[in-house]
Amino acid sequence: MKSVQLVGQEVRLLDQRRLPGDVTFINCRDYREVARAISDMVVRGAPAIGLAAAFAMVLAAEQACAKASSQAQLLAFLDTAAAELRQTRPTAVNLNWALEEIMAVARSAGREEICVRVRARAEEMAAQDEAMNRRIGHYGQSLLPEYCRVLTHCNAGALATGGYGTALGIIRAARQAGKKIEVFVDETRPLLQGARLTAWELVQEGFATTLICDNMAACLMSAGKVDAVLVGADRIAANGDVANKIGTYGLALLAQAHNIPFFVAAPASTIDLQTRDGSDITIEQRHPREVTHIAGIQIAPEGVQVWNPAFDVTPNRLVTAIVTDRGVLEPPYGDSLAKEFCDQAMTYSTGVGICWT
Ligand code: MRU
Repeated sequence: MKSVQLVGQEVRLLDQRRLPGDVTFINCRDYREVARAISDMVVRGAPAIGLAAAFAMVLAAEQACAKASSQAQLLAFLDTAAAELRQTRPTAVNLNWALEEIMAVARSAGREEICVRVRARAEEMAAQDEAMNRRIGHYGQSLLPEYCRVLTHCNAGALATGGYGTALGIIRAARQAGKKIEVFVDETRPLLQGARLTAWELVQEGFATTLICDNMAACLMSAGKVDAVLVGADRIAANGDVANKIGTYGLALLAQAHNIPFFVAAPASTIDLQTRDGSDITIEQRHPREVTHIAGIQIAPEGVQVWNPAFDVTPNRLVTAIVTDRGVLEPPYGDSLAKEFCDQAMTYSTGVGICWT
């Protein structure tokens, strides 16, 4: 099931807030509706957010093509739309990457062809995302033994991407390669992406899936029940520091303490060579209500203060390998990332691509 689709003049989003109970879709006819849906977590997961933004730009372009008379007016409108979309969620770099890609196409197209070319590029990006995930799966599955108990966090599955998933793509590919895979899923407070989304994806496909509360991971590892930790990423800095769902850093520390490999899976669009290290990554802070409430029920007293960062940064020294669509990268990540992705940084449409290494 696709979580993000462009259907005619609408962006169709699977409402991930309502899973697993209800499978419902929200149809957006205006780029601002997509922006709201991204902020409100109707659509979430770094690659899926990027695709939603790219599709939103198609709506913006078609709106502008119908109204704006000159190319300059059209591009100005698209710049405004991109700026609004960029603000919705600051940590996942895929959002910015997708907007840059679309703006590069728009700027290079003539007045008459902007809409056609923006739509074509957005559709191509969606297809490429799924293809990249399948390559990640192919490379990543080779890291897992024939019988492997994997612990994963949040949702880095089909729902979070253009299809197949990054971390879950590796799990899918490993099973396809004939390996016996069992998956432990962190529930992932505050918004429970593990319990609601990852468990939903895996159970539907018949994986042996065991849900744990986030505070059970250490105990599970000390009991010898985890062979590998496998997570996605929202942004990977030039030195290999990884921003991902809050709680990932804790898992990485636990994995190190128990001598368990810690793997990160991500497509090229998540790699940000323009960010030198994790300290330069903006971490999104979200509403206190996500912590004080579960499924609309208040679980904490009125007046309590809340700290609610959506992501944390795992330092590169805790990451055993980064699995990308171009292969498995090993430390030192400053070197391995630059070798594979410097060309990408240098061709960013902004022209300010920098390789720090
Ligand atoms: O806040 P979310 O649900 O958008 O956070 C998602 C994650 O942290 C995922 O692990 C990450 O985006 C990778 S998805 C392939």
